[in-house]
Amino acid sequence: MSIIETKIEIGVKKPFRVVHISDTHLTYADMRDGERKVALAERRSQYFKEAEDTLALAAETAKRYDAPILHTGDLSDFVSVANLERVKQYVEKTDLFMAAGNHEFSLYVGEAKEDAAYRNQSLAKVQAVYRNDIRASSRTVEGVNFIALDNGYYQFDAEVLAFLKKEVEKGLPIVLMMHTPLYEPALYQKALGAKKKGSAYLIDVSEELMERDYDPRHFAQKADAVTHEIVEYIVSQPLIKAIVSGHLHFDFESKVADRISQVVTSCTTVRVIEFV
Ligand SMILES: [Fe+2]
Repeated sequence: MSIIETKIEIGVKKPFRVVHISDTHLTYADMRDGERKVALAERRSQYFKEAEDTLALAAETAKRYDAPILHTGDLSDFVSVANLERVKQYVEKTDLFMAAGNHEFSLYVGEAKEDAAYRNQSLAKVQAVYRNDIRASSRTVEGVNFIALDNGYYQFDAEVLAFLKKEVEKGLPIVLMMHTPLYEPALYQKALGAKKKGSAYLIDVSEELMERDYDPRHFAQKADAVTHEIVEYIVSQPLIKAIVSGHLHFDFESKVADRISQVVTSCTTVRVIEFV
């Protein structure tokens, strides 16, 4: 675990801080969910050993700065009674503002095609443990509109686009919170790394790059019409100043369209963002 300090210039009257974490992937399960889930928890827990320490450090840091915690998804690795109980407890003790990730609705990790129908099997009970709507909601902090949007399955839904457009009408500067970052060339290169073929796990990668770099199965991530539309809207909307995201499990900072600051925060990083 570590703390990273990031400064983002968006032109606020009074500088303020938020604490950003992502992808903590809690892996609790017990026999209330049955043996299969307990086995899944055992398997998955080895990858996310610092989840509790990261959550604790975020809570402590947020308290120190009197700042909210922004979480950009995959707080839980899968849906279980024990995971949801733990999330509820954390939500009750902190000032947490949440954007859903793909794992929020995973019943068994990687078992099925994850789409709206799959998500809706657990949406109500997952949503019930959070204070804000984890698929589309907003919160104003020091005159800045923080908007949490769900893009966990590499697409945005029409209702999410409609929500964003309505929020823009408030006329406040905007910071978007979304699980999956938007494509931009430097992040694409970093995410692809040394792989010759594979997915960069980003939103709205061009077809040309996908043809060149992807395995056919990764075409499932191809942006649909609404996703293209919302990305175009985001890059051309001057009120949108920054994006905070996760999903990639590494730390990165860059700009989308040379204008919008985009930060990616890893599973074990507590990022203190100062907006100036
Ligand atoms: Fe994740």
